[in-house]
Amino acid sequence: MKNILEAPSLIEMVRTITNMYAHGWDERNGGNISVLLDEAKVSEYVDVNAVIRDIPTGFEAPSLEGKYFLVTGAGKYFKNVRYDPACNLGLVRLAGGGRTAQLLWGFTGGDRFTSEFPAHMMSHAARLSVDPASRVVMHCHPANLLAMTYVHDLDERAFTRTLWRMCTECVVVFPDGVNVLPWMLCGTNKIGEATAERIKTARLVVWAQHGIYGAGRDLDETFGLIETAEKAAEIYMKTAHLPRINTITDDQMRRLAEHFKVTPREGFLENKSSSAV
Ligand code: 13P
Ligand code: ZN
Repeated sequence: MKNILEAPSLIEMVRTITNMYAHGWDERNGGNISVLLDEAKVSEYVDVNAVIRDIPTGFEAPSLEGKYFLVTGAGKYFKNVRYDPACNLGLVRLAGGGRTAQLLWGFTGGDRFTSEFPAHMMSHAARLSVDPASRVVMHCHPANLLAMTYVHDLDERAFTRTLWRMCTECVVVFPDGVNVLPWMLCGTNKIGEATAERIKTARLVVWAQHGIYGAGRDLDETFGLIETAEKAAEIYMKTAHLPRINTITDDQMRRLAEHFKVTPREGFLENKSSSAV
């Protein structure tokens, strides 16, 4: 067996978590990540028949049966992960239709996966149904996106259009836009189901007054999505109280989309030749 601490996916997970903390997105135990791993890769590092313990999940996810996830632990501080990955992270395989997570490595302090495991697993199932290459679900608490949910209309089209107009490349990076959930109790199956439903049509889902979920094909893509939306929210929060003299028009966004070969979310841009803000 190879040393799992040298596995590229574990190293990348730890680096990403450390970077998220450095960005100020994950105060205390804020935030969580789960990454879907291939069985062939996993079996190079752990004995997939040696289950350490079974952890009940409290939900069903039949489409994820037998799938392997590297996931952050409940109550774990992102700033500490790099010093003790085995305590702060766990590698689990879903069994029993998703009702059980079989621990194969990690959570050495006897802990369990993030309290947001339902939102993570249900979001993986939802994203895989629309993009079989999807691998990552990431949650964190970036300050400007959060601040924006206190002062901006939570309508998904309006929220997306504001972000798109804050930096030229936003419409290129997240043409699918941003979906938004109203405040809900976190750590529940209910918010998990709601997140999964919204993450089907956009890889970013804002949790009002809480944070954001991102989904992508790898850690870099997912981090980059959140990073770009958070930068846009920062520009918004820096300018929202000032007179708006210039803007990015819908025609300009359409030209960007054409040039970079992306398709902005249907109906989110105004009709041609309109410069509505
Ligand atoms: P966990 O420590 O359980 O991952 O919770 C952090 C969080 O951000 C809850 O939404
Ligand atoms: Zn949170």
